Amino acid sequence: LKITWYGHATLGLETSHYQLLIDPFFSGNPTASTTADKVKADFILVTHGHGDHLGDTVAIAKRTGATVISNYEIATWLSKQGIQTHGQHIGGGFKHPFGYLKLTMALHGSAMPDGSYGGNPAGFLLTTNDGLKVYLAGDTGLFGDMQLIGEEGIDLAVIPIGDNFTMGPADALRAVKLLHPKAVIPIHFSTFGLIDQNATLWAKQVETETGVKVSVLKPGASLDIA
Ligand code: NI
Ligand code: MN
Repeated sequence: LKITWYGHATLGLETSHYQLLIDPFFSGNPTASTTADKVKADFILVTHGHGDHLGDTVAIAKRTGATVISNYEIATWLSKQGIQTHGQHIGGGFKHPFGYLKLTMALHGSAMPDGSYGGNPAGFLLTTNDGLKVYLAGDTGLFGDMQLIGEEGIDLAVIPIGDNFTMGPADALRAVKLLHPKAVIPIHFSTFGLIDQNATLWAKQVETETGVKVSVLKPGASLDIA
């Protein structure tokens, strides 16, 4: 499984047969490492309705024919624009061709760009067909039930550390202690001034206190997990 960070909260997940794109925010993202007209996608996963997550979903789904997976409200909003969607909701999982995907809770908002109700924000817990578990927290504050998610045995957790809109470094460290994953990738930081963070410093602190391996990627860089 190859995971690529495109900057901010935008990720690519490449399984042996499918290309997944998560929260595809390229246009207007000062740190984006590629553009919406170049990126590949078989499936697009959207955690919530905010512009820095819904991003270029409509344009990319129309170009690629990708199915968009999100909460029911966002899926309905997108399907009205002629996009193929699969709606789920928090706590619900479904066996997709690329693996079993469950929506997890997130403490955040989810209004759509046009002000429509975007349902509850979510994270994703993916179990690949090879049995790897990847937790994508989405935009969220710290919550104690991360411990329940961690009980599933997480290979990789992708969590926000930017502060202001999501967990900051101190709470993200506590999140790692609750999730106890094998590896962590921090996201949602230093895209713009409000969420500037020293991720390298955070990584050192997490590794020292928890022994969990932290990979601080540069936008466009990838990590292989097996
Ligand atoms: Ni948000
Ligand atoms: Mn965000």
